[in-house]
Amino acid sequence: MNDMRIVERTVSTETAKMTARGVQVYYDENHALKDVDADILANTVTAFIGPSGCGKSTFLRCLNRMNDTVSVARVVGEIKLDGEDIYDKRVDPVTLRARVGMVFQKPNPFPKSIYDNVAYGPKIHGLTRNKAEMDEIVETSLRKAALWNEVKDRLNAPGTGLSGGQQQRLCIARAVATSPEVLLMDEPCSALDPIATAQVEELIDELRAHFSVVIVTHSMQQAARVSQRTAFFHMGHLVEYGETGQIFTNPKDPRTESYITGRIG
Ligand SMILES: Nc1ncnc2c1ncn2[C@@H]1O[C@H](COP(=O)(O)OP(=O)(O)OP(=O)(O)O)[C@@H](O)[C@H]1O
Ligand SMILES: [Mg+2]
Repeated sequence: MNDMRIVERTVSTETAKMTARGVQVYYDENHALKDVDADILANTVTAFIGPSGCGKSTFLRCLNRMNDTVSVARVVGEIKLDGEDIYDKRVDPVTLRARVGMVFQKPNPFPKSIYDNVAYGPKIHGLTRNKAEMDEIVETSLRKAALWNEVKDRLNAPGTGLSGGQQQRLCIARAVATSPEVLLMDEPCSALDPIATAQVEELIDELRAHFSVVIVTHSMQQAARVSQRTAFFHMGHLVEYGETGQIFTNPKDPRTESYITGRIG
């Protein structure tokens, strides 16, 4: 199978925020992710694409140790954030997840007020000294998530009472509130209408100024619109990884070409 491992490594002069080397994931006997090497660049949106079950979410969850919460999952290999091994015993996964935040496919606000949803992370990580500082973080996070104007007059209303698109932007505000360095988004727009999708996409582009964003998407149009780098996964392999324009117009691997032209997947 060695000839299957033609991995286009992102060798570049740009700064790698995270590096993954030789990453394998097993769910019991199922070898779901096979020897993945990839760099996640700073201030870049990276899209993960590929057919259902190819390992996109699995790899995404490796990047903030969310697979720790899956009892049957075993992660092998090395993943570094700013050169530090995130799987080192001394790393606290909760602190790591404040630095490498995550937004899920289905909006999952806590059963708390809009304000408390956003304040939750800064509170548990002790990021503020008083109410005024917390108010400030809540407002800036909601502004970054393009939700402030819609909710500023009802911050004490429950987050679960918002529309689906608003809930997803609330979850983005919650993730942004701890000032993450990397934001992982697993199909963040799949439950959203085209208007909310456009808002979230615009937001993703703005967030890139502050940190690295990794987005899993089944929409190749979305990957092409929002990302600068694209990684194509197939059957647990990272088949090809490069500049988004190159991947979509001039893929090097026949499997990538088949997928983007709609022949597989
Ligand atoms: N929690 C889990 N427990 C056991 N097996 C899992 C778990 N999560 C994923 N897998 C398996 O790992 C493989 C990769 O799944 P993964 O969810 O990473 O794919 P994906 O590319 O995100 O797919 P989709 O596009 O459908 O979300 C699949 O064979 C899947 O069944
Ligand atoms: Mg998935």
